[in-house]
Amino acid sequence: MGKNDKQEFIDPFADFAEIYELTHSGKGDDLSLYLEYAKKTGPPVLDIGSGTGRVAIFLAEKGYRVFGIDVSENMLKIARKKIKTLPKAVQDRIRMKKQDMSHLDVPGKYALALMPYGEFAHVFEPKRQLQALSAIRKHLKKNGLLIIGMSNWDPREERVSLEGNEITRWGHSMPLKYEGIFEDKKNDRIITRYIARGYDPSVQTGLHVYVHEITDRDGILIARKTNVLPIRYVFRYEMELLLEKAGFIVENIYGHYDKSEFVYNSRRMIFVARKKEA
Ligand SMILES: C[S@@+](CC[C@H](N)C(=O)[O-])C[C@H]1O[C@@H](n2cnc3c(N)ncnc32)[C@H](O)[C@@H]1O
Repeated sequence: MGKNDKQEFIDPFADFAEIYELTHSGKGDDLSLYLEYAKKTGPPVLDIGSGTGRVAIFLAEKGYRVFGIDVSENMLKIARKKIKTLPKAVQDRIRMKKQDMSHLDVPGKYALALMPYGEFAHVFEPKRQLQALSAIRKHLKKNGLLIIGMSNWDPREERVSLEGNEITRWGHSMPLKYEGIFEDKKNDRIITRYIARGYDPSVQTGLHVYVHEITDRDGILIARKTNVLPIRYVFRYEMELLLEKAGFIVENIYGHYDKSEFVYNSRRMIFVARKKEA
């Protein structure tokens, strides 16, 4: 840590934004849950780690005022470009700002705050995690809600270790698994994604290495692009404690967007927390 307790910030999405948009803009399985809560709380909505605007745009199209913050300039750039193509009335409902959630400072108070898709896993230090949650609480109206969606992280993932059959060191001999095929219609290209994941339980950190093979329609390789995302795994009781410490009451923990119970093999871990009044 330097003099001002500040570290150089490396934005893992800087070089990932375009591919993120291509591979995730079609994700919509979570939207009805967030809309359901927006209907309950009413506007405005704070979208934390708004990325390329996937959730913010959807909610603004449904009539909600949304303020999005994201720390990645390139993710915001894509979001802003998309917003410009929307009807004026929808555009007017969205505002976006570059900001780190642990230094959240936006105008107004919000009825609902969302971290829809793993955003919290990009905050590594417990101090910054708590700062972020406390700042969100300050920006919520009375009885405001915070929803945090993330994966149900699997601690059985291949471990980084110096011995045995585990991964011998970060980034070395991690098995590549096929993830899916995506279409880049604009450039008439196909993107095949593979992922290698390693996990270091001593720091609750996963290293997700995405390998993207970009080919033409005949399967001729045009480029291979690798993106590395370090992910801070947060587990159930840890998250509950963090939320309680930051002044929230955890109302529900869901295992998927259909509000099914959170159980050992749930794919997601979704916290619904209410601002506790002093
Ligand atoms: C997995 S993406 C999700 C984007 C979008 N919310 C969605 O659902 O498609 C995570 C986003 O969190 C942002 N992010 C990471 N750390 C952040 C921080 N400290 N403050 C604000 N945004 C952050 C990243 O830049 C990225 O856009």
